[in-house]
Amino acid sequence: MAEKEVIETSEAQIAVHWKEEGYYYPSTDFIAQANMSCESVYDRFSLDNFPNCFKEYADLLDWDEYWHTILDTSDAPCWKWFVGGKINASYNCVDRHLAKNKNKTAIHYVPEPLDEKYEHITYQELYVRVNEMAALLRDFGGLKAGDRVTLHLPMGPELPITMLACARLGVIHSQVFGGFSGKAAADRVVDSGSNILITQDAYYRSGKLLDHKKKSDEAVALAAKEGQKVDKVLVWQRYPGKYSAATPMVDGRDYFVNDVLKDYYGKRIDPVPMNAEDPLFLMYTSGTTGKPKGCQHSIGGYLAYVAGTSKYVQDIHPEDVYWCMADIGWITGHSYIVYGPLALCASTVIYEGVPTYPDAGRSWRIAQDLDVNIFHTAPTAIRALRKLGPDEPAKYDYQFKHMTTVGEPIEPEVWKWYHKEVGKGKAIIVDTWWQTETGGFLCSTLPAIKPMKPGSAGPGMPGIHPIIYDDEGKELPRGAGIAGNICIQNPWPGAFQTIWGDRDRFVDTYYARYCKDPNSKNWQDWPYLTGDAAVEAEDGYYRILGRIDDVINVSGHRLGTKEIESAALVAVEVAEAAVVPMKHEIKGVEPDLYVSLKPGYEASDELAKKISGVIVEEIGAIARPRNVWIVPDMPKTRSGKIMRRVLGAISNKTNVGDVMTLANPEIVTEVTKMVQG
Ligand code: WT7
Repeated sequence: MAEKEVIETSEAQIAVHWKEEGYYYPSTDFIAQANMSCESVYDRFSLDNFPNCFKEYADLLDWDEYWHTILDTSDAPCWKWFVGGKINASYNCVDRHLAKNKNKTAIHYVPEPLDEKYEHITYQELYVRVNEMAALLRDFGGLKAGDRVTLHLPMGPELPITMLACARLGVIHSQVFGGFSGKAAADRVVDSGSNILITQDAYYRSGKLLDHKKKSDEAVALAAKEGQKVDKVLVWQRYPGKYSAATPMVDGRDYFVNDVLKDYYGKRIDPVPMNAEDPLFLMYTSGTTGKPKGCQHSIGGYLAYVAGTSKYVQDIHPEDVYWCMADIGWITGHSYIVYGPLALCASTVIYEGVPTYPDAGRSWRIAQDLDVNIFHTAPTAIRALRKLGPDEPAKYDYQFKHMTTVGEPIEPEVWKWYHKEVGKGKAIIVDTWWQTETGGFLCSTLPAIKPMKPGSAGPGMPGIHPIIYDDEGKELPRGAGIAGNICIQNPWPGAFQTIWGDRDRFVDTYYARYCKDPNSKNWQDWPYLTGDAAVEAEDGYYRILGRIDDVINVSGHRLGTKEIESAALVAVEVAEAAVVPMKHEIKGVEPDLYVSLKPGYEASDELAKKISGVIVEEIGAIARPRNVWIVPDMPKTRSGKIMRRVLGAISNKTNVGDVMTLANPEIVTEVTKMVQG
């Protein structure tokens, strides 16, 4: 497939040039304090002890009713964990901490403007605010267990408060990344069948107060066209009591949350005991077709898995200050800013803005001020911080004990800077490989047990048993030196349950490829296909090379090439569109767009700008193409397939290979001249 080959021109190549790196060992100080320092955990979680090993994670939670069946496989491959259990996620993240820790900071909120003070929300205050919001959602919003509600909130305490208020009622939240467009929010409103949209008027990004409310107007209008009526838009205000957006409020539809909340002062809502396998939230992610997939995560299994991994991989203790720089609008934020840390009664940091605003020292000043000791971010941010301020970290008085990298492969050079400069040579690093679908980590070193190896995600997590298959389904053994399709042999509690409303797509995408018997009820017959290529080294560490499907990983987040191409086709002038990943110093890759025009239209800079604008409008700024190349024709095979591999090579100035078999080889020269000058 052309798409597969495109990926080979980017991420896989980085890997090819990497040599195996040496080990780095954790310090004795780190090991002495670690939550998990005993190698026997790997035996306890071996395949022989599967699935009962995961009781250890379930027991980190408080259950209203304890479960009777750890894993029910009767509806394979829709696995059910902790069946018979009743549980509430909001109770586990808030109420249960009050007896001992009501006075402890749950959330440190850092606004972007320098002249605004930090806020520290205690567990008691979180309890009060979650309860009042839950009362509002139930009595004003009319929401009840099982209903879906779409959130389109920026980074602020209101986001976890809203999520936990939903969880308290058993309402399924679906948070859309704040940077996504109104159109993207509309698609998710429609797919999830939400009739309430919760947003905020404005937020800061790089020093600008952005009007965010206008996106909800677009979302409501577009959703209505698709037949999904939004009855209420609930608007949090960035500055309570003051409206910070230019777009007017719509009478009878839009309400300020802060105003309505006054009616719910002092209200307490009993957490609704939910079935362990009821859904907690939906998180949409890109796939190989245009339509994003609503990954449905469970309450009991998901919460157990993120609590367990936060404890043993993130090594969070109650006294730690933990800062994950991701956005809560992505799965990383759900699992490792909100649910995991709060389930463990940690203090979690939420930063509104850009890590390098107003200068490259900002992140380290926040770390210094709050005395952060666990830090979690993505290679894209590390590259940006390194580029803008390679010597900045040394200027600030903080010391991390633990750092995470997540989202994309990290180049060993960048890893070493992270280790030496950001971690001051003392912090351990975990490279965590996982996905929106998987709820929590799949591969990582356990920090006190396994040494680190730059560029390698490490071995499978306890209870996660990866296997690499070649295209024919033959297992590639450890040390084979060949990449293949990395799968997970067994189910685990954090795994998503299905794609919302599309079980067939769920089975097709993730389980059909290597399924041994489609009628089987044994989990052994259903390896989970991650969609990543990987190699397993002699020592059992996995190096992840990138996607095998047509998904582009921009700044550690997935964008479907089809998604961007369909957005480009919204411009009436565009006849054909092809997106390829182009290497970028900081973002890893960026989408580079090629289009050909319908007859009668002329190429121009304005048109290129317009097409780029359409993509931002349809998806969000994250998908903005690096270039829009308006070409006379696309390089095509004789059967008419666009050769994205060739375009990818042109964008990245690598060898286009043999093109003589194409239907139109001359176009390759022409396009190369245009792009490379
Ligand atoms: C894809 C998942 C995991 C939460 C954030 C992204 C890539 C993720 C790593 C890593 C190499 C990684 C994979 C994966 N990826 N972590 N540590 N090393 N690649 O979640 O948007 O669902 O993307 O990101 O290709 O399949 P996502």
